[in-house]
Amino acid sequence: MPRAIALCVVAVLTVAAGCNAPTPEPPEDPPEVALGERLFLETRFAQFFAVRAAGVNDPLATGDPVMDILETTGVPRPGPFAGKSMNCRQCHLVDESPEPATTGLRTYADFARRSPIPDRGDGHNRTPRNSPGLVNANVKRGVPLFLHFDGQFATAADLVEGTLTGRNFGWLPNEEATARAHIARVMREDDGSDPLARPCRGLPYATLLRGIAAEIPTACRLPEGYRIDVAAATDGDLLHAVAGLVSAYMETLTFARDAGDGYVGSPYDRFLILNGLPRQPEPGEGGIAYARRLRVALEALTAPKLVDNPGVLMFAHHAQDFVFGPAALAGLRIFLAEPAAATASASELARGGIGNCIACHAPPEFTDFGFHNNGVAQAEYDGVHGPGAFAALAAVLWASKLGSAAPETGDDWLIISFAVAIIGGTGLNGGIISAMGLFMGSAIFMLIKHGLVEVKANPYYANSFLGLLILLAIVVDRVRELYSDKQKDG
Ligand code: HEC
Ligand code: HEC
Repeated sequence: MPRAIALCVVAVLTVAAGCNAPTPEPPEDPPEVALGERLFLETRFAQFFAVRAAGVNDPLATGDPVMDILETTGVPRPGPFAGKSMNCRQCHLVDESPEPATTGLRTYADFARRSPIPDRGDGHNRTPRNSPGLVNANVKRGVPLFLHFDGQFATAADLVEGTLTGRNFGWLPNEEATARAHIARVMREDDGSDPLARPCRGLPYATLLRGIAAEIPTACRLPEGYRIDVAAATDGDLLHAVAGLVSAYMETLTFARDAGDGYVGSPYDRFLILNGLPRQPEPGEGGIAYARRLRVALEALTAPKLVDNPGVLMFAHHAQDFVFGPAALAGLRIFLAEPAAATASASELARGGIGNCIACHAPPEFTDFGFHNNGVAQAEYDGVHGPGAFAALAAVLWASKLGSAAPETGDDWLIISFAVAIIGGTGLNGGIISAMGLFMGSAIFMLIKHGLVEVKANPYYANSFLGLLILLAIVVDRVRELYSDKQKDG
């Protein structure tokens, strides 16, 4: 399945993606990816299952009501996992939709404004945000990786552990250890009777994770790095192993690219190719700069060719029309259009057609991978994850300020501390330090930093600019000193 996704994908932002008919059958998934997908679908890790099922291999008498339907922005649809308890796929759908022709491939999002969560009587019944698509969520980027819009997780494995033992799976904030023990129990006691185990000859998790039994088919034999002896492992180690496998699966969820790293899978990608439009940034070119270059090239086309020959190009694995028609082209023009200045003028607003979407959704990834505060209150977050949970997010301190946090966070603090002091009038070889000077120095520093953002300077050069500024401050300081020396002399 993930390989199918890799080859047949749906681009963000309503432009359906996919692959064309001649694409050869995808190679089989590596064992860790196949097992990771099975764990992504596994419904027995949920709290509902833990308290209601007689044994880990016994089916539930009645499923968790939260699974009965898929909430949408309109009429609810039947839940693909009705009768079971929570799994990752319930909120991250592929094409489980009963009407795939109209809804298409979900790229691992659901249909809800906010995803319903199991009822635990704590007053919470929805996730704080909507579930995003997961294709390309782990793709390499120019900024540090963080997952969830509050920067809750810095790795996919952390996310899996946190989610499996968290509120989305029905576990209250103080039930983490119980959750871990339950998940470990499912892994140890599974007997392979679940239909999900069929592709691996109905072998139990314990056998597959150990990875040595002769009966394990090659397609299911885990590489050594993923193996673990579930009988000897601690609950924590087991959860870790599960997280590693689910992460391996999620890393394969990427949009199709060609040998030159250009995206090729979607009708939009085909449109670019068909018209000889630039398909990706040049080395060193930022996303927005590329988007502008694309806009200019698109404007220069007198008769853009559309992708509207169904039957020639089609999705190989998904029942969805492979079309980039006039409406999509009109939408693309709006998407790429920017106002002449930072704020749109009255006449621009009256004329319309300026989406300015590339400010945050620059192609070809259609995201800036940045941190955006989209209005979830700390109180709401704490309600779901437990009191103090938001404050405990180490990432938030810096992510909220800088856009992201990572081990290299703080690397540029040195230059900042120099800049503030020197701009504030403290000489490089020491001297008089004035509190007012430091204050003014930091104020000027912030003004300049924000100014750099306003003029859309490349953030990677910000430090070079600050370096130049320090030099300038030193020169000015030196000139001032010479000048005052002269005055004293004179
Ligand atoms: C009850 C619904 C629900 C379940 C179950 C669920 N998720 Fe999510 N998932 C969400 C929501 C909502 C978000 C967005 C959270 C946010 O930004 O705060 C999300 C975000 C994510 C992201 C981050 C994507 C990004 O670009 O930042 C990943 C990865 C992910 N989920 C994987 C998983 C995995 C793996 C599981 C199973 C262990 C899982 N999810 C179970 C609802 C769910
Ligand atoms: C100021 C930044 C910003 C601008 C400008 C912006 N967006 Fe977004 N957009 C976001 C953020 C942040 C999210 C994620 C929020 C969420 O999912 O809760 C988002 C999410 C989306 C999504 C959902 C994506 C998904 O994977 O679920 C779509 C579609 C979208 N934007 C389209 C647009 C369009 C079209 C425009 C231009 C008209 C636009 N955006 C302009 C920041 C922006």
